[in-house]
Amino acid sequence: MAEKKRTVTMDKLVNLCKARGIIFPGSEIYGGMGNTWDYGPVGVEIKNNIKRAWWKRFVQESDNSFGVDAAILMNSRVWEASGHTTSFSDPKMDCKECKSRHRADNLIEAHSKGKVNPDLMTNEEMEAYINEHHVTCPICGKFNWTGIRTFNLMFETSRGVTDESQNKIYLRPETAQGEFVNFMNVQRTTRAKVPFGIAQVGKAFRNEITPGNFIFRTIEFEQMEHQWFCKEGTDGKYYEEFKEKAWQFLMDLGFDKEHLRFKDHDKLAHYAKQACDIQYDFPMGWSELNGIHNRTNYDLSRHQEFSGKTMQYIDPVTNEKYIPYVIEYSIGADRLMLAVLSEAYDEETLQDGEVRNVLHLHPVLAAYKAAVLPLQKNLSEKAQEIYKKLCKRFPVTYDVAGSIGKRYRRQDEIGTPFCITIDFDTLEDNTVTVRDRDSMEQIRINADELAAYIEKYLEF
Ligand code: GAP
Repeated sequence: MAEKKRTVTMDKLVNLCKARGIIFPGSEIYGGMGNTWDYGPVGVEIKNNIKRAWWKRFVQESDNSFGVDAAILMNSRVWEASGHTTSFSDPKMDCKECKSRHRADNLIEAHSKGKVNPDLMTNEEMEAYINEHHVTCPICGKFNWTGIRTFNLMFETSRGVTDESQNKIYLRPETAQGEFVNFMNVQRTTRAKVPFGIAQVGKAFRNEITPGNFIFRTIEFEQMEHQWFCKEGTDGKYYEEFKEKAWQFLMDLGFDKEHLRFKDHDKLAHYAKQACDIQYDFPMGWSELNGIHNRTNYDLSRHQEFSGKTMQYIDPVTNEKYIPYVIEYSIGADRLMLAVLSEAYDEETLQDGEVRNVLHLHPVLAAYKAAVLPLQKNLSEKAQEIYKKLCKRFPVTYDVAGSIGKRYRRQDEIGTPFCITIDFDTLEDNTVTVRDRDSMEQIRINADELAAYIEKYLEF
């Protein structure tokens, strides 16, 4: 069978999101605030469903994994210990003509159309490449660069009750450190035995030099991170296991495997022994969706050194003392949202030539699991009764405005898997029409069976 052509583009997604209450530009009435986005009534439901599905898979259903919700603002020593104050930086270059700021590695990647890998270059080599190949500014087209300077990506703020007593603190650039600093607390209170996991979902902040591509790279975003603490020597096995688990999670959400691939890192982060990404074929091309890293015992060892508190685990059987290795699986909730929307977006030409926009979302991710649509306003009482009953089981929306065809289209556009039509027969025999979003087929069932019928599709 010929592969169906993908119709998604970034512009179409941005427009759909704005029109249908999925994602709006941040602070829009003030002209926006570069690369911040607000989730609307539909978007917040989808994103919450993404986070819930992830938590269910990696905490609730995972043997020996526990959740935390650590503070965003942490003691500055955390970032010294983790290496972020010294090493969490990008190579930036400024265009002296138009004053725009760019990442040298991005300039080289774009200029060489991906043929040259800047991850393997030093800053000096990158600068030499840009000069030799006369790489011009993508904004103004001129060639007049400053040299490369490293630019720390952490947002700084200050804390203190008087101007004189201000201390510099940071907005966390990753959630992972909240898991590491709580390693002993979690181990002690859960009595977990190594190997075990700590997971967290929460906001992270990075002063990215070149954010963009809608919600792909933003300065404020949410991460879903899972640290698996294991004994040295077993780390290679668990690294492979987490690669598989991360892949399976995406398969179960309905991703086409042709749109995903593993990519090993060419240059390892300061803490990593092994690292790879799962890349997704986004509307702008293949890019990182999530990372899997073997962080060794770097983080725990550094926190032991900087805090003076032991991070050693004592094996209850052998009494052996050691600082565990860590396999990290990290994925951005917003980035996964972009991938989910890109994967679900479709424009279908129907038999009558009409084009319908539809989001083929997994029902578990859809904002509303069903829409209740009374055929006419005078059927509202019965329709409301059915709507209220279903709302107790899962999120449902209600729409009376416009022709039934238009209402179906509106629900298709936000990915509602089922439309329930209430007509005059409903008053007689309590049956309703259920229309399936993907096949557009309709069946007639008793209203009392609706919840059970829909819940069958909500298993994940
Ligand atoms: N704790 C490891 C860590 O933070 P990372 O590769 O820098 O590793 C993990 O980030 C994931 O967080 C990425 O794979 C991506 O999904 C998401 N992410 C990172 N930076 C982001 C940004 N500026 N905007 C949106 N998502 C981002």
